[in-house]
Amino acid sequence: MKIIETKRCTLRPWRLSDVEDMYEYAKLPNVGPAAGWKPHHDAQESARIIAMFIASNEVWAIEMKDTKKVVGSIGLHLDDKRPKVNSRMVGFVLHPAFWGQSIIAEAVTEIVRYAFTELDVDIISGYHYPFNRQSGRVFEKCGFRYEGTLRMSSVIYDGTVLDNVCFSILRNEVSL
Ligand SMILES: CC(C)(COP(=O)(O)OP(=O)(O)OC[C@H]1O[C@@H](n2cnc3c(N)ncnc32)[C@H](O)[C@@H]1OP(=O)(O)O)[C@@H](O)C(=O)NCCC(=O)NCCS
Repeated sequence: MKIIETKRCTLRPWRLSDVEDMYEYAKLPNVGPAAGWKPHHDAQESARIIAMFIASNEVWAIEMKDTKKVVGSIGLHLDDKRPKVNSRMVGFVLHPAFWGQSIIAEAVTEIVRYAFTELDVDIISGYHYPFNRQSGRVFEKCGFRYEGTLRMSSVIYDGTVLDNVCFSILRNEVSL
């Protein structure tokens, strides 16, 4: 997996030694549920997720350049809603102590550039739940277009059925 530099962050492969950094944010009640997953119960759970991320080869750790602390993750996955083209779906989470500094927008911008220039993708999508306006703002700030809302299209960890607010961006909508 390619290491990607942004102004303030290094997007790099996860390491098992990042477990405490991940658990610090993944245990919080305002992080996972906004992305559809249950807060981590203990550091062992974070270790299992890191092992999955390493095996998947499609999720980067977001490491701050100044402190070397891992403060979140960003993934680029095949978009199963768009199987006929070379599509990717971007997803992310950030430690709340770092919210409001456009750190994820910075990471998404570089991931989008990477996907269009090096993976030759046709379209990059992003989805969020209707209550998660923070995430919608990230997509808007990165030039994604609002497509519509796919009603009742997700079931999250506690069985709740939710709509997906859909965004996407095409190669010709980005200055590469
Ligand atoms: C979504 C998320 C990654 C955004 O990261 P971020 O780097 O803080 O994003 P930004 O700094 O660009 O802020 C985006 C919006 O969040 C809101 N926001 C900023 N700071 C905030 C704070 N401390 N508390 C609540 N909302 C805040 C603002 O509305 C902001 O929009 P603005 O730039 O127009 O003011 C982050 O909020 C997060 O990790 N949330 C929990 C997990 C999640 O929702 N993942 C995405 C699933 S689709």
